[in-house]
Amino acid sequence: MTSLTLFVALTYADAEHWPALVRRARELGAAAAVLQGEGPSLADRLSRLSGEGVTAVHLVGVTFGAHGVPASWIGRVARWWLAVGEREMTVLFSPDAVRGLPSALPSADGLRPLVPREGGLTNPTWQDAPPVRCHLLVCRGPRCTAKGAERVIDALGAELYARGMLDDEVLLTQTGCLFPCNRAPVVAVQPDMVWHGPLRAEDVPAFVDELVSGERTLRALTTGPGEPAARPGIP
Ligand code: FES
Repeated sequence: MTSLTLFVALTYADAEHWPALVRRARELGAAAAVLQGEGPSLADRLSRLSGEGVTAVHLVGVTFGAHGVPASWIGRVARWWLAVGEREMTVLFSPDAVRGLPSALPSADGLRPLVPREGGLTNPTWQDAPPVRCHLLVCRGPRCTAKGAERVIDALGAELYARGMLDDEVLLTQTGCLFPCNRAPVVAVQPDMVWHGPLRAEDVPAFVDELVSGERTLRALTTGPGEPAARPGIP
């Protein structure tokens, strides 16, 4: 039996640590994948390892941010992967994620192989788009990330959660470059087709007030002083 530890980065924010995680995995004789965002997906990495003759994998979540994604999603994805491909691989899963770069291979003692299950990635309540008021797209492109986008999305999440709006009235999503990079950090409001920037963490309470009131008062992108909000896209 050929076995391997596979470290799985849990969040989008972990992407900036991805090169270091890959290096550390190699040093430890392990491999790495991502649960979401850019990088080799967990399912693709498992398929590749299976094709290379690996017959047993120990999955370990890794996260670097303060706001984690439940590591249980690793188990769900792996069970689904086992089920849809009728795979022979033995997959073990550590329910506790490692915080920061792993310093050693975690023990797999006491872990039982995952049982294939196809339905773990679907749910009757995930069938339709939610009836939200708007969708905020927070740019995590290189310019916006350098200028504080991570703090912006943390502040937006906290403010919307505190007001009971997160996911019920407002969806919050991280994206790649939204194009008006000179205005970083940039947040776009859809379906309004309005881009805001720079929007800093300290601006967030006023920005959410604006969303609630429907009045545009704060740093909507304009083509010049006093001019109406631009509609970027077709010049
Ligand atoms: S990097 Fe954010 S708009 Fe381009």
